[in-house]
Amino acid sequence: MSKFWSPFVKDLVPYVPGEQPKLSKLVKLNTNENPYGPSPKAIAAMQAEVNDNLRLYPDPNGDRLKQAVADYYGVQPAQVFVGNGSDEVLAHAFYGLFQHEAPLLFPDISYSFYPVYCGLYGIEYQQVALGEQFQIRVEDYARPNGGIIFPNPNAPTGCLLPLDAIERLLQASPDSVVLVDEAYIDFGGRTAIALVDQYPNLLVTQTLSKSRSLAGLRAGIAIGHPDLIEALERIKNSFNSYPLDRIAIAGAAAAFEDRAYFEKTCQQVIDSREAVVAGLQGLGFEVLPSAANFVFARHPSKDAATLATGLREQGVIVRHFKQQRIAQFLRITIGTPEQNQALLDALQGL
Ligand SMILES: Cc1ncc(COP(=O)(O)O)c(C=O)c1O
Repeated sequence: MSKFWSPFVKDLVPYVPGEQPKLSKLVKLNTNENPYGPSPKAIAAMQAEVNDNLRLYPDPNGDRLKQAVADYYGVQPAQVFVGNGSDEVLAHAFYGLFQHEAPLLFPDISYSFYPVYCGLYGIEYQQVALGEQFQIRVEDYARPNGGIIFPNPNAPTGCLLPLDAIERLLQASPDSVVLVDEAYIDFGGRTAIALVDQYPNLLVTQTLSKSRSLAGLRAGIAIGHPDLIEALERIKNSFNSYPLDRIAIAGAAAAFEDRAYFEKTCQQVIDSREAVVAGLQGLGFEVLPSAANFVFARHPSKDAATLATGLREQGVIVRHFKQQRIAQFLRITIGTPEQNQALLDALQGL
């Protein structure tokens, strides 16, 4: 702490991202990155941007990317917001849409950045307990609220909430924003973007970090009613006019345009996930049903923290959360078939 700090900084509790180890030999299954590279067309588009034009600022609105997203989803560009990773998009949504008298609601087990944004922006929140099977129970959200947010599929459980349940949530809270954080939707769910024309209180965020394999680029999007998008634009333009650089706009747009590569690699991850689930079950693990690029698994008799340490000693890193209720689970990212086999082999000896 320093006397130079603004007073609130001393009480900030920042988010702790998963480890990005400096050793390259590790089988890295801890931060839900894609085991396959980005679309070759996206790489070519980014390489083409590395030229003399970098002396010029990028398009502050990222119109090329907005258009690519609008074309992909069949929405209007005015319904699209783009930002520097979905974390930044989420931050703007918290600031611009969730600062109300009634508390923001989100599941007790969900993305651990949500309470951090609440702390940053002074937003009251209530965590709503997931059911016994770690499912979101929509009826529990039918109470006064200043907004609702949850990942779908949920993180770190991987469990999917079907669209009809999301519609019930939207109908029960027509006066607050329901934000569906679809970081992992492409690995087995149906996007709620299909509902944005019908529900002006729905905002959907997505990231290019997972299914489009561009975590290192930092690009994320939000789709919703133009009034919601305008709130995000106002915050963004009061904070940083150029969140996406020239390379990011070109690469992200090209990634949306290359549908064939996207579909092929998503399917590979899904197929591998089913193999990992079978392998883990064969080793006695209970695995929650996953629609994501990771699985959430616990062993009936082996301690999760001990397993995580044992895996690490064998060069495999997974994520373990020291949080009540999920302290006996490991969150394991789906890797290449070779990486997945290395995981299963390592677990066999533990
Ligand atoms: C549920 C969820 N939302 C959002 C993000 C942020 O993704 P990014 O900032 O890379 O777009 C993550 C990253 O792991 C996530 O798990």
